[in-house]
Amino acid sequence: MSETEISALAAELADRGPSEILAQALERFEQLAVSFSGAEDVVLIDMAARLRPGIQIFSLDTGRLHPETYRFLERVRTHYGDRIVLEVLSPDNEQLRELVSRKGLYSFLRDGHAECCGIRKVVPLKRKLATLDAWVTGQRRDQSPGTRAEVAVVERDSVFSGREGALVKFNPLANWSSAQVWEYIRSNELPWNELHAQGYISIGCEPCTRPVLPNQHEREGRWWWESEAGKECGLHAGNLQPARSA
Ligand code: ADX
Ligand code: SF4
Repeated sequence: MSETEISALAAELADRGPSEILAQALERFEQLAVSFSGAEDVVLIDMAARLRPGIQIFSLDTGRLHPETYRFLERVRTHYGDRIVLEVLSPDNEQLRELVSRKGLYSFLRDGHAECCGIRKVVPLKRKLATLDAWVTGQRRDQSPGTRAEVAVVERDSVFSGREGALVKFNPLANWSSAQVWEYIRSNELPWNELHAQGYISIGCEPCTRPVLPNQHEREGRWWWESEAGKECGLHAGNLQPARSA
């Protein structure tokens, strides 16, 4: 899709519901996969499995997820059976060995999360995206006033490349609030990550995620030792200005 076609589609879909945005994405792209973090973005799996049984889903297993998240990934796999294909992607062994021998297991607490996220998330993601034409994420505008307030429902990925160069990124939940997501989870009786019952809202890796207090923003539970403006791990670096290229 050209830049102009993407902008036209973004304008057309700007106010549509997530399921309709997904339907439009699936109609246009065969080589498309849904990225699943193991949190409330399970709603996208549910919608996509109805629209395209056998839909490709992938999760980046950083090796540092909570046990509850691993159990949740397995529950989702069982719940949807052959309605989804869930791929769990691992970091490159040699890169990880080198980082950990040089800096230990908690280097992100000393010198920021970019290097660890780079090896554990971004490199495996980049490899996966190079096999696709489009990907779907669960990003929402209300998740991070600092970095996601402008997220479009569809955009050209300014950071990663696809199979033939250009890669399209769909964010069907961009306009939805957390309340709408949870209403969908409850009314459709979807499985959910047990961590949500322990005060976690946004869920990432165990050492870099903590529960939040009432009225604290969900993003405050992620990389809390770093400044608000830099809280993207590289998956969505295009949200930071200026966009970096990978
Ligand atoms: S993050 O970049 O800060 O970690 P966040 O947890 O808000 O992202 O999730 C936003 C979306 O990014 C998710 O809905 C999902 O599409 C994608 N994502 C985040 N983490 C992962 C992961 N470990 N594996 C696959 N996709 C992920
Ligand atoms: Fe490493 Fe933390 Fe990033 Fe996970 S979130 S990859 S543990 S820095």
